[in-house]
Amino acid sequence: MSKGKILVTGGTGYIGSHTTAELIEAGYEVEILDNLCNSKVEVLDRIEKIAGVRPKFYDVDLRDAEKLAGVFKSGGFDTVMHFAGLKAVGESVEQPLRYYENNVGGTINLLECMQEYGCKKIVFSSSATVYGVQDTPKYVETMSTGGTISSPYGKTKYMIEEILKDVTVADSAFAVTILRYFNPIGAHRSGLLGEDPNDRPNNLMPIIMKVAKGEIGELTIFGDDYPTPDGSCVRDYIHVVDLAEGHLAAMEQMGPGVQIYNLGSGAGTSVFEMVKAFEKASGAELPCRVIGRRAGDLAEFYADPGLAKEKLGWEVKLTVDDAMEDTLRFLRTSA
Ligand code: NAD
Ligand code: UD1
Repeated sequence: MSKGKILVTGGTGYIGSHTTAELIEAGYEVEILDNLCNSKVEVLDRIEKIAGVRPKFYDVDLRDAEKLAGVFKSGGFDTVMHFAGLKAVGESVEQPLRYYENNVGGTINLLECMQEYGCKKIVFSSSATVYGVQDTPKYVETMSTGGTISSPYGKTKYMIEEILKDVTVADSAFAVTILRYFNPIGAHRSGLLGEDPNDRPNNLMPIIMKVAKGEIGELTIFGDDYPTPDGSCVRDYIHVVDLAEGHLAAMEQMGPGVQIYNLGSGAGTSVFEMVKAFEKASGAELPCRVIGRRAGDLAEFYADPGLAKEKLGWEVKLTVDDAMEDTLRFLRTSA
């Protein structure tokens, strides 16, 4: 018997697909809703290979309120894990309305349906970007949010967090868990799932993967003159399977009201260290060139993951080296 029925929005995407596999393996029944704007339907075959069950799939856009209501009408979901959204920071600067409409508008439709059909538990994919610029690189959940967010993408995450908080004020039976991710990397240990965006990527790891495949000539490193040990930017990279397990731990501890957790490792890794780790795992040199700083980049930030450890009993188990090996396995499988 299933432990509960979960609707995963954005479930064919990078983080949603890994979380779906973990949920099924932990005994939950999962249904996926995705409009496939940044993922492929073949991901369902891969989830089935890993977990032994093919999740029911709805090719539905969150902005289509009528179709969404149809999903909830027959669904009977206990919880929604809400990953669906657009996430390209630079694109959000060029197309702010599209980002607000998709991410904020889509979430409002989702919450309306949840309310109407009596599903009152939601786990939301937020981001460390909501902290904006802080005086210290170690981000803790009690810090202010929303003040200095540099992109419309980041602002959609902040706005959705605020909307979710307001929903729990209006309805005390609503349970909201907000997970603020740091930098997810890596792939499923089977090599069957990984990050495979439809468009040209902007984040470090998918670009490294494209350089390794020869689809991009070199990695351009954005600055080596930051006040960090080697001059390149430092981030908190978290293996996507650890992140998926964090969702499971958080969901199993849900109660009415809002809970907020950082999901990160607590350790910083520089861009040069990331390149070295990839080269160590692949045994080949990665063509790189240092260019100027990227606008809006912070020198350094990483998570204080203490709260998730204390309240959820969750902490990362996998390393950047593990992530590199799993990424290479995914590259070979998807070649
Ligand atoms: P992804 O693009 O791989 O997955 C998102 C999925 O949502 C895609 O499959 C896409 O097709 C779907 N989608 C987008 N808009 C939709 C809509 N209107 N209706 C239905 N489906 C829609 O991204 P990901 O890396 O797996 O990220 C998942 C979530 O986590 C996103 O909300 C993202 O903003 C957030 N997040 C990601 C990172 C990261 O670095 N990957 C960091 C922090 C937060
Ligand atoms: C970016 C977003 C952030 C979002 C996060 C996770 C910006 C300014 N911030 O953060 O809002 O929450 O992704 O999706 O875009 N790098 C290179 N060369 C490249 C690409 C990246 O040197 O071609 C460096 C960057 O300078 C950075 C590090 O690699 O120091 C990681 O970059 P990236 O993967 O884009 O993540 P963030 O900048 O942390």
